[in-house]
Amino acid sequence: MAYPDELTAFIGFFMTDVSVQNTGMGSKIINGLCAYLARIGMVNVRLGWVKGNPQAEHFWHKNGFKETGVTYDTENYTVIVAQRGL
Ligand SMILES: CC(C)(COP(=O)(O)OP(=O)(O)OC[C@H]1O[C@@H](n2cnc3c(N)ncnc32)[C@H](O)[C@@H]1OP(=O)(O)O)[C@@H](O)C(=O)NCCC(=O)NCCS
Repeated sequence: MAYPDELTAFIGFFMTDVSVQNTGMGSKIINGLCAYLARIGMVNVRLGWVKGNPQAEHFWHKNGFKETGVTYDTENYTVIVAQRGL
C-alpha cells in the first residue's frame, strides 16, 4: 500500500495455480481487488512484469494495465512497470 505514492497500491507478486489458469480466476481476483482498493480511496494500482513474458503481458493488458514507460534493469532481466487507474 501507498507505494510509490500515497494513493497507489503495488502488487509485488501474483500467480494462480496451474490447475485454474485460463479459467478466469486471475481476472476475477484482480477485478475484486481493484474494486476494493477503489472503495477505500486508492487511485492507482501498479506492478511489474518481466519483459518477454507474453503470458503475463497479455494477462495484465487484458485486465486494463498499461505500460508507464518506466523499466528497471536487473542483472538477468528487465522489469516493465505498468499501471491501472481505479
Ligand atoms: C498470468 C496469470 C496470473 C493469469 O491468471 P489466470 O487465472 O490464468 O487468468 P485468467 O484466466 O483470468 O486470464 C487468462 C489470460 O491470461 C493470459 N494467459 C494465461 N495463461 C496463458 C498462457 N499459458 N499463455 C499465454 N497467455 C496466458 C492470457 O492473456 C489469458 O487471456 P485470454 O483468455 O484472453 O487468452 C497465471 O496464468 C499465472 O500465474 N501464470 C504463471 C505465472 C506468471 O507468469 N505470473 C505473472 C507474474 S507477473
